[in-house]
Amino acid sequence: MKTYQVGIVGATGMVGQRFISLLENHPWFKVTTLAASSRSAGKTYEEAVGARWAMTTPIPEEIKKMVVLDATADAEKVASSVDFIFCAVDMKKDEIRALEERYAKLECPVMSNNSAHRFTPDVPMIIPEINPGHMEVVAAQKQRLGTKRGFISVKSNCSLQSYVPAMHPLKEFGITKTLVCTYQAISGAGKTFATWPEMVDNVIPYIGGEEEKSEKEPMKIWGDVVNGEIVPVSTPSITAQCLRVPVSDGHMAAVFMSFEKKPTIEEIKEKWAAYAGLPQELELPSAPKQFLHYFEEDNMPQTKLQRDLEGGMAVSIGRLRPDTQYDYKFVCLSHNTKRGAAGGAILMAELYAAKGYFDR
Ligand SMILES: NC(=O)c1ccc[n+]([C@@H]2O[C@H](COP(=O)([O-])OP(=O)(O)OC[C@H]3O[C@@H](n4cnc5c(N)ncnc54)[C@H](OP(=O)(O)O)[C@@H]3O)[C@@H](O)[C@H]2O)c1
Repeated sequence: MKTYQVGIVGATGMVGQRFISLLENHPWFKVTTLAASSRSAGKTYEEAVGARWAMTTPIPEEIKKMVVLDATADAEKVASSVDFIFCAVDMKKDEIRALEERYAKLECPVMSNNSAHRFTPDVPMIIPEINPGHMEVVAAQKQRLGTKRGFISVKSNCSLQSYVPAMHPLKEFGITKTLVCTYQAISGAGKTFATWPEMVDNVIPYIGGEEEKSEKEPMKIWGDVVNGEIVPVSTPSITAQCLRVPVSDGHMAAVFMSFEKKPTIEEIKEKWAAYAGLPQELELPSAPKQFLHYFEEDNMPQTKLQRDLEGGMAVSIGRLRPDTQYDYKFVCLSHNTKRGAAGGAILMAELYAAKGYFDR
């Protein structure tokens, strides 16, 4: 496999930092360009990120002295110096939409962590194990943008990265309704306990926009491709409640589910154990060997013990049992800044690279 030069736009943020740490020693992707706001532009990465560095490993040596560019003012310079960018920025939605389209029109593919384009019908929202077929709408998107190789692809919200994978292999049993309550880590808000001390010993029962994303995004992920656009499905319907809990990393979900053709507990566990997608088939560098892990112990999965399973890219499930109001209930867990953000975007980019989308 050839290697690709990569830019990170939003490199100083929580997700940007995760990209930098996950891409250290990546076999295909080499980080060569960093960009952020005008506040960081012109500084070395080390100066720009300063005390905000929240990863457990140090800033890689070759990144420390790189000079950060301005994501907007230097867009042409960034776009022309890399094969594609990862984008994770904290800006207004319409500004992000415009910035990402600008990079795509500069013929630079955009692998986005932002929500701005998640409901643009010809922008695929990819979970690589679930809907790689949606990549086919990129051709229609390029036609709309008037580009040869520039396009945008997004990854979905971090809240749903545990329960959508757990639901997916069970769709053949006809899921009729699902209730989800998520318990979400503070890094999902770009924060640490040092920067958000109010979260110590606390739960906040509101995360702006999160419940809507948790209910709506799965419908696009399972959507049908019609005339170069993704048409969301209307079932299985999901109702969600999202809470912020005092955990550094790792989003847990408590899930309740009913079916048209109710499977047995053994059948569900077999479906989870057997499920593998294109990333496993292609042996992509960031793909977990086993996507869904079921734990038989009553007190598993635990955020602290399982969030880093298979490099933080696997989903952990446990406590599957009958329910009195739904057919079954269970819990599941995924790492929100690895599988749920930077890691998920890197796996998505590996899929595009393997399929030749970044070639010139
Ligand atoms: N954290 C998660 O788990 C997670 C999960 C999924 C998706 N996301 C999404 O990823 C994006 C970034 O989240 P985050 O948690 O990493 O945020 P963050 O820690 O607040 O970082 C924000 C980044 O955006 C940059 N930025 C702000 N204004 C900018 C501008 N005008 N032009 C260019 N860059 C600008 C910042 O640069 P400066 O340092 O120069 O200000 C910084 O690099 C958001 O859209 C978020 O919804 C986050």
